[in-house]
Amino acid sequence: MVLEEILTSLTMCFFYTLMPCLLIGGVVVLPAPQNLSVQSINMKHLLTWSPVIVPGEIIYYSVEYQGEYESLYMSHIWIPSSWCSPTKGLECDITDDITATVPYNLHVRATLGSQTSAWSTLQHPFNRNSTVLTPPGMDVTKDGFHLVIELEDLGPQFEFLVVYWRREPSAKEHVKMVRSGAVPVHLETMEPGAAYCVKAQTLVKTIGRHSTFSQAQCVKVQGEPLPLALALFAFVGFLLILVAVLLSIWKMGRLLRHSCCPVVVLPDTLKITSSPQKLISCRKEEVEVCATAVLSSEELLRPWI
Ligand SMILES: *[C@@H]1O[C@H](CO)[C@@H](O)[C@H](O)[C@H]1NC(C)=O
Ligand SMILES: *[C@@H]1O[C@H](CO)[C@@H](O)[C@H](O)[C@H]1NC(C)=O
Repeated sequence: MVLEEILTSLTMCFFYTLMPCLLIGGVVVLPAPQNLSVQSINMKHLLTWSPVIVPGEIIYYSVEYQGEYESLYMSHIWIPSSWCSPTKGLECDITDDITATVPYNLHVRATLGSQTSAWSTLQHPFNRNSTVLTPPGMDVTKDGFHLVIELEDLGPQFEFLVVYWRREPSAKEHVKMVRSGAVPVHLETMEPGAAYCVKAQTLVKTIGRHSTFSQAQCVKVQGEPLPLALALFAFVGFLLILVAVLLSIWKMGRLLRHSCCPVVVLPDTLKITSSPQKLISCRKEEVEVCATAVLSSEELLRPWI
């Protein structure tokens, strides 16, 4: 049985001279994948390796990892990668396996039928703090007079530092923290005719690192006549209020005079007799005085109304 396998393997070897074959202790060994490396960009980690080629055959690869805990306290334990146990491809997304900012050992082996290669181990353990952080993609727009930014969604670990300023000499920079991408965020209400610029960088708290800033993007608000119209509206409103106030003062004055003018100085006769005729005649005189007083105040306000 074993002999038969060795023989078929050897035949394959001699048949396809391209195939890298090894004969160790009388057993043909499937070569291990070479050239392992991890590409990590924006906290997405991809393990790649060079193919093991056996013409006419499909080679499968298995990936396992060992975090700091496993390598320190359980050195014999390797955990199969979530997505590549096994895989036909030459790469493995290990993002879901790397859950801590510690060194990870990774290894890969090839499988062909019942044959398996030796494990090939990544030369230097991978730590996710070495990920390459790129400046975030951003969309700077204006919504009426509102300066709005929408940042690329890079996942829940990402935050963004947004810096914006009005484009003018010695402009003051404003800073805003944005907690997640893919959501429009209002930055400022812009003044007409002015240009505003925005730049952003990504922050990843779990690894304590940030990207460089993106290129600044600027938007300009047209110098529209709207503020002039607003000022005009405000002025007209002010005039209307002034007129209303003056009118009400005048009305109040009139009312007050009507109610207060007849200051009834009780005639001596009343104190003694309380005869109604005398009281009426007295009041008639006073009301007349009152009416002339109101008339004069009306004349005073006439030019205003
Ligand atoms: C190793 O991989 C790099 C790219 O990751 C490639 O350029 C190089 O040719 C590979 N080396 C071998 C021996 O396959
Ligand atoms: C990553 O963390 C290790 C310690 O765990 C540290 O020695 C190394 O300098 C860090 N690398 C970066 C790029 O921050």
